[in-house]
Amino acid sequence: MKIIALSNQKGGVAKTTTCLNLAAYAAKKHKVLVIDCDKQANLTKNLGIESPQTTINDLFLKRPFDILNVRKNLDLIPSSIDFAGIDLVIQGVLARETILKKAIRQFKTKYDYIFLDCPPDMNLVTVNALTASDYVIVPVQATQFSMDGVSIMVEFINGIRESQLNPNLTLLGILITHFDPRLKISKSIEKDFKVNEWDAALFKTRIRKNTAIENSQHKDNRMTIFEYDNRSSGAMDYASLGEEVLRKIKKFN
Ligand SMILES: Nc1ncnc2c1ncn2[C@@H]1O[C@H](COP(=O)(O)OP(=O)(O)O)[C@@H](O)[C@H]1O
Ligand SMILES: [Mg+2]
Repeated sequence: MKIIALSNQKGGVAKTTTCLNLAAYAAKKHKVLVIDCDKQANLTKNLGIESPQTTINDLFLKRPFDILNVRKNLDLIPSSIDFAGIDLVIQGVLARETILKKAIRQFKTKYDYIFLDCPPDMNLVTVNALTASDYVIVPVQATQFSMDGVSIMVEFINGIRESQLNPNLTLLGILITHFDPRLKISKSIEKDFKVNEWDAALFKTRIRKNTAIENSQHKDNRMTIFEYDNRSSGAMDYASLGEEVLRKIKKFN
């Protein structure tokens, strides 16, 4: 069983899209759980759940909560706007960084992979997610790329490791999303990565800009990219990423 977080303090970089489609890809052959750790609940809605009776908020408050089966081999712990403000609530709780890690222990043997969709913050919820994870994937948007943003995220991950909260946390890779091969900026990003010696961390797969991805998440559809259009470039890219991620994890073990 492996736990993988999708994290970046920036919004709109495709954390949720990647969590959804990577989990859907892995669920073709494995038992998978996704946990929506963002109060915006985009992952929850994209999986077709509108008003869940219990959410991750209950998990954090140590109340009973449901795990929903949303597809074949794919379960979800949903989120909702109720989760807003949880940071303040758990501020005073003892061992407040390990709430999620401990909760996952109860059911982790039921799954092969657990994917955590993080909020666009470096708050206590993100600290909980990274403390509970074996690996972290950092999606970055090619069109508004900033090396500073990536550095901040990499330092944050190093901080979690060095603080002893999670000495085993591994950066599985940095993923370029919203990629447009025609744009010059996409080439300059590759150069930046070489300069920073992060080449090894960069996934070979890039997720190209693709309207099918946006359409798949439209409120009239709410599908994974494989359900919406299995022949789209988005479906091809996420299948390629899925293979690369599972291969990389195997190599580490
Ligand atoms: N490859 C892509 N091509 C086109 N649109 C995309 C792509 N990936 C994500 N999007 C869209 O970009 C927006 C932000 O993506 P999202 O996954 O919600 O980011 P985050 O979770 O990091 O905030 C969403 O509207 C999503 O549909
Ligand atoms: Mg999101």
